[in-house]
Amino acid sequence: MTAGTGEIEKAADVLRAGGLVALPTETVYGLGANAEDPAAVARVFQVKGRPPSHPLIIHIAGAEHLDAWVDDVPAAARLPAERFWPGPLTLVLRRGRRVPPEVTGGLETVAVRVPDHPVALALLSTFGGAVAAPSANRFGSVSPTTADHVRTELGDAVDVVLDGGPCRVGVESTIVDATSETLGILRPGGVTREDLEAVLGRALPVPETSRVRVPGQHPSHYAPRAPVVLVAPDRIAAEAALAQDRGRRVGILLPPSVPEEAVKAHAIVAVPASTTAYARGLFGFLRELDEHDCDVILASLPPEERLGAAVANRLRRAAGPRPSH
Ligand code: TXA
Ligand code: MG
Repeated sequence: MTAGTGEIEKAADVLRAGGLVALPTETVYGLGANAEDPAAVARVFQVKGRPPSHPLIIHIAGAEHLDAWVDDVPAAARLPAERFWPGPLTLVLRRGRRVPPEVTGGLETVAVRVPDHPVALALLSTFGGAVAAPSANRFGSVSPTTADHVRTELGDAVDVVLDGGPCRVGVESTIVDATSETLGILRPGGVTREDLEAVLGRALPVPETSRVRVPGQHPSHYAPRAPVVLVAPDRIAAEAALAQDRGRRVGILLPPSVPEEAVKAHAIVAVPASTTAYARGLFGFLRELDEHDCDVILASLPPEERLGAAVANRLRRAAGPRPSH
């Protein structure tokens, strides 16, 4: 059940006391701490198992609070903030004095967003400050899109889990480098490139050519337990058969163009034809295939338009090389 006023007030007290609160957002659940409390922020890194050099996003209650947390906002950054906040857009700007360096991994920039979820917004305005929150999963694994995912993965390590129902967007926010007048996308996400370009009235540079260093964008990320292998839709049935013949439990994220009768596998999740629905379900689908104890997950990239770009980015990272330890 969705968190009520009493629970939200209690959660705000937990933040004030240096505790950790898992909070729903429209993208994924976050693992939140008072952004101005370095010890609480350190606990976030510890619970996630995340290297301290990987910066966190700070969440604020509204665009009108932006200037309290950042310095020198370029004029070009105001328009997307006005148009897309509250919403799945994160702006990287120059770090203001209120943000301790622990939040940003020592960087002089800070990532900021206003989440579009009633529980998150109520928590932020009751609390009154900024909440530093990465996705509420262990480092490298799949982001949580329900309160149950958080409880299963982080359990007692979190002081409060606020339930806000399943996340509406399902993939993380779009991160935009807004440190200069030339904006650039650092991570595709819930606000599409097409929508950003329509609002800005010009094309945005592709992520690879962007200027700032992006710590925390490791090749292997958003990964389920089973290795993910990307296959073209017309090869999926044959690859599944090969792997099954080798005695492997095959899970498939079945693209809409392939009929279910055409494939044989240990577990099949039929992917919705709409990329909005695919994005919403993606992390849950990967968790579901893990629950079936698959040895390998076969998936195809959707067309990289609109939310398809974020889905393809997460699938590529899920399929990326993994650390050997
Ligand atoms: O939708 C979201 O963005 C979710 C919800 C909880 O708000 N949060 C999220 O946080 O995805 P996280 O920590 O899993 O990913 C944040 C990423 C980092 O991995 C890093 O790549 C980037 O944001 N980031 C944060 N601060 C940055 C900075 N100062 N410069 C460049 N990239 C930054
Ligand atoms: Mg994350």
